[in-house]
This record gives sequence, C-alpha cells and structure tokens, in this order.
Amino acid sequence: MKILVVGGNGTIGGCVASRLKEKHEVIIAGRTSGDVNVDIESTDSIQAMFEKTGKFDTIVSCAGAAKWAAFDTMIEEDFYVGIKSKMMGQINLVRLGQKYLNEGGSFTLTTGILAEDPVYMTTNAAMVNGAIHGFVLAVSQELKNGQRINVVAPGLVENSKDKFGDYFPGHNPVSMHKVANGYIRSVEGKRTGEIIRIYE
Ligand SMILES: NC(=O)c1ccc[n+]([C@@H]2O[C@H](COP(=O)([O-])OP(=O)(O)OC[C@H]3O[C@@H](n4cnc5c(N)ncnc54)[C@H](OP(=O)(O)O)[C@@H]3O)[C@@H](O)[C@H]2O)c1
Repeated sequence: MKILVVGGNGTIGGCVASRLKEKHEVIIAGRTSGDVNVDIESTDSIQAMFEKTGKFDTIVSCAGAAKWAAFDTMIEEDFYVGIKSKMMGQINLVRLGQKYLNEGGSFTLTTGILAEDPVYMTTNAAMVNGAIHGFVLAVSQELKNGQRINVVAPGLVENSKDKFGDYFPGHNPVSMHKVANGYIRSVEGKRTGEIIRIYE
C-alpha cells in the first residue's frame, strides 16, 4: 500500500512509519521535516500537500498538539491550541483527505489515554481527544467508497517516559512495539469506527 504518515518523524510516528515500511511504501509528512511538509493547522497547507502527493491507500496521522497548563491559569485562547491543532488538524486531514484516499482505503488518527485517564494540566488534551473519539464513531458511518477510519489512543509511550514520565504518576509506559501494533491493526485490519486503546 502507499501510505502517508503525518508526523512520521515524531516519537510515535517514527516508530509507526518504520514498522509500516517493512511491508508498504511510506511517505512522511511533517511540519518541518519529512518527504513533504504540511501544517495541519492550515487547510490550505493540507490541500497543497495532497495536490503535491496525489492519492494514497492509507492516511495515518501521528501529529497534533494541545496546551499543557493548569486550568486556573488558562485563557480562552489556550483551549484553541488543541482545537486548532490536534482536533481540527486531524479532522481536516480526513475532510480534505477523503478525496485523496483510494477506494477501500483507511484513515488512522491519534488521540491518547488522556481522554479517559487525564492527569494534572491536561484539560485541553483530554477534551480534544474525547472530541476526536466522537468524530471517528460518527464519521465512520458516512465515509464513502468503502473507506475506513479508526483512532489509536496510546498511553504514555516508552520513548517519552524520560521527558513526560513525572507528569504521569503511577502510569505504566507502553512499549513502542505495542503502540505500533495499534496502528498495524487499524491499517492492515478491516474494522472501522474503532477506538484502539493501547494502555498497560
Ligand atoms: N508521546 C506520548 O507518550 C504520547 C502518548 C499518547 C498520545 N500521544 C499523542 O500522539 C501524537 C504524537 O506525539 P509524539 O510524542 O510522537 O509527538 P512528537 O514527538 O512531538 O512528534 C510530532 C510529530 O508531528 C509533527 N507535527 C507537529 N505539529 C504538526 C503540524 N501542525 N502539522 C504537521 N505536522 C506536525 C512533527 O513534525 P516536525 O518534527 O516536522 O515538526 C513531528 O514529526 C500527539 O498528538 C500526542 O498528543 C503521545
């Protein structure tokens, strides 16, 4: 399959892309790195990327940021960080990408454990993760031409443990192999409308 991995040079995306490369042709997109550049916060940028790359059999997103801050310090604009990037960025990848996805192709988005098991300072991430879960359940009924969509919700991953572990007291980091398997299940399996939780 010809597969686009947005965020394919990141911590999760890099490990997903290298697993997918074992069997598939992988094109990596990133904001500042990769085979093609895209800023998922901009619909013009997403459209320009697809016009450059053409069609895919699979589109995977491992990109999207949210504001990390204590609730009582947050102003309204802080909430738009996650809404514009992780939420609408991924939703617009699907909205514009459906025309660039071959018949029977699939989308795989990324959320995270914070939708259901949030830690301190994660109101923005938790809320956009939950929104994407609702979006995937709903849009899976509406995609045409046999297109599928799933979302992988990983726990704190092993390779982020040193950087973020202190923010996740008592959490069990998930191995990179197990996380990548969540994406393989979505890409190479047949199911749709699934929230694939990869927690320890
Ligand atoms: N790390 C974890 O433990 C963990 C656990 C659960 C969920 N998640 C979620 O998984 C996703 C990826 O996390 P990560 O730790 O792998 O992040 P990361 O290491 O920071 O990598 C993010 C990747 O996404 C790209 N990117 C960022 N913003 C972008 C934008 N606006 N447009 C296009 N590409 C963009 C970056 O590209 P450039 O490098 O080219 O800028 C980079 O390749 C995030 O949504 C995160 O919330 C992470």
